[in-house]
Amino acid sequence: MKGLILSGGKGTRLYPLTYTRAKQLIPVANKPILFRVIESIRDANITEIGIVTGDTAPEIEAAVGDGSKFGVHITYIPQGAPLGLAHAVKVSQPFLGADRFVMFLGDNVIQGGISPLIADFAHHPEWNSQIVLTRVERPEQYGVAKLHADGRIEQLIEKPQTPPSDLALVGIYMFDHHIFEATDAIKPSRRGELEITDAIQWMVDHGYSVFPHVHTGWWIDTGRPDDMLNANSLVLDELVPTIAGKVDAQSKVDQRVTIEAGAEVINSIIRGPAIIGEGTKIINSYVGPFTSIYSQVLIENCEIEQSIVLENSVLRDIPTRIQSSLIGRSVEVVHHPARPKTLKLTLGDHSKLGLL
Ligand code: DAU
Repeated sequence: MKGLILSGGKGTRLYPLTYTRAKQLIPVANKPILFRVIESIRDANITEIGIVTGDTAPEIEAAVGDGSKFGVHITYIPQGAPLGLAHAVKVSQPFLGADRFVMFLGDNVIQGGISPLIADFAHHPEWNSQIVLTRVERPEQYGVAKLHADGRIEQLIEKPQTPPSDLALVGIYMFDHHIFEATDAIKPSRRGELEITDAIQWMVDHGYSVFPHVHTGWWIDTGRPDDMLNANSLVLDELVPTIAGKVDAQSKVDQRVTIEAGAEVINSIIRGPAIIGEGTKIINSYVGPFTSIYSQVLIENCEIEQSIVLENSVLRDIPTRIQSSLIGRSVEVVHHPARPKTLKLTLGDHSKLGLL
């Protein structure tokens, strides 16, 4: 089997963070989502992986390289324009050939990996496709499946206004080469994209066997900032903690905290689950549960909780607790206590800042 990861598209919903960075490279618990996707495909013993890329191809290629650091071989597949998930499959046909493959959206995070799903698909050569469904609160934001009473697929619809069920399509799909008949046959949707949902519906309508698996663990499509914080909390909750950096005698660090190499915690409290990245300094501060501080960050005289801070940022002397925040790269938030009372901010376009 081969793997196909979709990392093209535009991350408009995560603006401003994705003006400057591919959304698939934003870290969750200090590891880019795309790296987590590559590792879960590799852990299912698939080492030939294609990555579909768009405008952010140079950044993705620089971060992932030839795949050897993950123990896989990566082929990059430029998409030209983000014309839909089924279009991404179409342009990947020369790479995929006649092999069966798993397609994994590069911005999805799923509990428990995909090894059992891959094994299932491998044991059923009569299945032309396997899709993964899960129950969600807002099905209108996803592709939605309606099943027959016996569990077979009746209908698949992309982001319906009136969803026929609460079963959303998770961004993990398995196919054999018959998918190319479908991607050639379907037409663009109202939003102008070749929808993978329509391609799978085409397979169902033409008598191919599409098997639905209902996933019961957690799954997150990290399209919006709140989803990102949610994914961060869920992954941190399962992280095996390690302390490689320095913690001074005046600090208190919970058991469920990871301190990466070169990080320093000075006179501070860190409540887990939390992760402090390489070369980061936490001084006279409180870092609360479900917080990921990436590399080379300085946090001094601050309280922060349930947040993500990306690399090279500085948070200093902030008088109120920072909560549920997503702070980008090289951001500076500094409070000057002397009169006139000022906040010194370096924020990207469209940043949101809630001040008391
Ligand atoms: O996350 C699950 C959902 O993913 C499914 O429930 C939907 O049926 C499916 O259409 C998809 O919906 P999204 O609106 O979340 O897709 P998005 O545009 O965010 O793209 C998902 C990934 O695929 C993302 O990493 C970017 C990449 N992509 C997207 C398009 C449109 C491409 O590589 N090429 C593309 O043309």
